[in-house]
Amino acid sequence: MENGKQYIYIVQSSLEPSKCKIGKTNDLERRLKEYNNMTGKSKENIYRYLFACEAKNMAKVENDIKMQFGALREEKSREIYFYNADLFEGYVNFIKTHAMFIKEIFIKADDKKPIVKIIKKTTPSLDERGLTRKDVMQKAQKADNDEFYTRYEDIEKELSMYDKTIWEDKVVFCNCDDAVGDSEKNTSAFALYFLRNFKELKLKKLICIHFGGGLDLFSGGAKGYVFTKDGFHELIESPKGYMGSFDSPLSLKILNEEADIVCTNPPFSRAIDYWKVTIKSGKKFLIISNIVNVVHTAYIHYFKDNKIWAGYNRIDYFLNPKRQLVEASGHWYTNIPINDRPKYKLLKIMPLKEIPDKYKKYDDNGILLVDKGYIPNDYKNSFAVSARPILNGLLEKGYKIAQYERYSPYIKGKERFVRVLVQKI
Ligand SMILES: C[S@@+](CC[C@H](N)C(=O)[O-])C[C@H]1O[C@@H](n2cnc3c(N)ncnc32)[C@H](O)[C@@H]1O
Repeated sequence: MENGKQYIYIVQSSLEPSKCKIGKTNDLERRLKEYNNMTGKSKENIYRYLFACEAKNMAKVENDIKMQFGALREEKSREIYFYNADLFEGYVNFIKTHAMFIKEIFIKADDKKPIVKIIKKTTPSLDERGLTRKDVMQKAQKADNDEFYTRYEDIEKELSMYDKTIWEDKVVFCNCDDAVGDSEKNTSAFALYFLRNFKELKLKKLICIHFGGGLDLFSGGAKGYVFTKDGFHELIESPKGYMGSFDSPLSLKILNEEADIVCTNPPFSRAIDYWKVTIKSGKKFLIISNIVNVVHTAYIHYFKDNKIWAGYNRIDYFLNPKRQLVEASGHWYTNIPINDRPKYKLLKIMPLKEIPDKYKKYDDNGILLVDKGYIPNDYKNSFAVSARPILNGLLEKGYKIAQYERYSPYIKGKERFVRVLVQKI
């Protein structure tokens, strides 16, 4: 025993960057030697400490780590935990704020890539998407704009608006999300959010499936993980050729038979298919999609039939594969009840004659068009609005969608932007 001191450590093998081991020892040097001897002195498989600290009661700290991060522990093994830079930060913070923590001995340098500059446009160049022309030629053209990722803060902002009890004892399915990440290949922020908050939300299970086809800059092949409070395991029943598509048989089976709530930012190129599959499943969902989808014929049905409504927040930025901010025009959509939507205050509901003239006009068909959130409350006919008032909760304020198709107005023969026809109930 080395001076009777007690240590907690996080160690990692060079061959398994998505895992780490968390344990206790009285002798840090000897324990590392043991790990490296275990590997048969293989030069490729070297264990290194990521973190080590002295603790008053190492058994208690180790036990509390197991309790706190149960879902991140491999089911079969005693000490293997899921690893990426964000989760590592969580383990270290937990240990350093534990009452039994004495002092840090070692911590590896932060390998998190900072989010860099803002790109002021929505259609980034190939270079900005980290692609070469050859990549694009070789892969399916339509997957072109799918590789944009949701920021952690956008997920946290939206999900924290709902009552925590909606997650209790539920199976959450992130069907377009990579649960594994390291500094280069970052974990989906959806997976990260649920993993970080697994215990607090009292989740029963989290299933994350990462698509392995198309224009995917992450590792090839489907990758699925199942997390419960007792640990995680890889989705091993992947049939041969399973690429993890949300509409492939195994994904549909999980969606229809196991999932309670679906939560993701699905591929833009498959937005309509994704909505159909999700709504057909009858499951609760909380997903991101483009703002304008509300005024597109393919989606109007869902709003008109009250099967879907806007979530609380819009999404103004995504991250590209180089972790640069890219302007976006996304919004949350859900079928989970919304309470006291704060955006109601953006609706300016008033008698028609009080709406300023410059924000109301009639098109060549005599249809009233209103802008800037102005809504007449004494107009009997249907009138045209943009996506925004719908997203701000107009359909919850005594108005309904008047027709199943989008509406393209013309004024003096000139086409104006697409809207949707609504009517006071
Ligand atoms: C807009 S990105 C969002 C990724 C992640 N959900 C997030 O929010 O950061 C859509 C993801 O879906 C993946 N994808 C494309 N086609 C898919 C499919 N058929 N099934 C599941 N995922 C797919 C893409 O590779 C991409 O990573």
